[in-house]
Amino acid sequence: MIKKAVIPAAGWGTRFLPATKAIPKEMLPLVDKPAIQYIVEEAVTAGIEDILIITSRNKKAIEDHFDRFPDLENFLKSKKKENLLGLIKMIAQMAEIHYIRQKEQLGLGHAVLCARKFVGQDPFAVLLGDDIVINEPNCLQQLMAVFKETQGVVIAVQEVTREEVNRYGIIDPASENDRLFLVKDMVEKPLPERAPSNLAIIGRYILLPEIFPVLAKIPPGAGGEIQLTDALKVLARQGKVYAYKFQGRRYDVGDKLGFLQATVEFALTHPELAAPFKAYLTTLLSSKTGFQEVATGREI
Ligand code: UTP
Repeated sequence: MIKKAVIPAAGWGTRFLPATKAIPKEMLPLVDKPAIQYIVEEAVTAGIEDILIITSRNKKAIEDHFDRFPDLENFLKSKKKENLLGLIKMIAQMAEIHYIRQKEQLGLGHAVLCARKFVGQDPFAVLLGDDIVINEPNCLQQLMAVFKETQGVVIAVQEVTREEVNRYGIIDPASENDRLFLVKDMVEKPLPERAPSNLAIIGRYILLPEIFPVLAKIPPGAGGEIQLTDALKVLARQGKVYAYKFQGRRYDVGDKLGFLQATVEFALTHPELAAPFKAYLTTLLSSKTGFQEVATGREI
């Protein structure tokens, strides 16, 4: 059973500047819930009890979000807003959440290395705040089911277009069995003509502690950063890494378009917003000139 998870959240979030100058990108809300809360909920649903969030200097809002807030609780209580009170208290009780600062943003691999003491000798999950996957069972639950069988490293992959491969770590599969691949090699952000496949690594992993000595030794790779993919590559060449083509829709919410897509999807399933938002979109789409009118700020 995997009980520990690591959420690296120390990155700069440059794709979302200027919004992320003072607000961590993990705190940008998808409708009314910060992205990182969806990630924590996914981990908890999969049975995770202890979560280490890797933070950096300007990420205090993440710690505040998962903390108790007695003044706000008292205020909501005095106003008899029981539902909101329950919601606020629940966030602080979901799991045991720990924090460590990555003192320099040297890359995802380096961020994961910061979890070495927390992890100890157990297999552990890594979830990136950028990737939101919508499915039941959730993405981490799917990887855990694979881990139960393989007892090896498991990474989540999805098919991308040839033009997109240079934005991802790409696996070189040795064999395929249904959705499961044994990985013989991988490469971070390859040029399309050099990509060994179109299977891209997304932000869900089950790792073993043997990743740490490898991470501690590897030199900076793509973008001058210590890359998790480079460490996984070493283990893959030893035949210890599996990739699973997960089921579900995945949104890169660290990217503006992905963020908007996820926002629309969550709004369309939100208990209060679904009906009025759908009505709004329907009006927008059915109006012949709806898009131009919205673009020019006129009423439709
Ligand atoms: P990204 O590649 O998305 O980088 O990191 P970023 O800085 O967060 O965002 P952009 O690309 O500049 O917009 C992937 C994941 O690794 C974490 C990030 O927080 C994100 O969850 N990360 C990255 C760290 O924790 N530390 C690092 O040094 C780099």
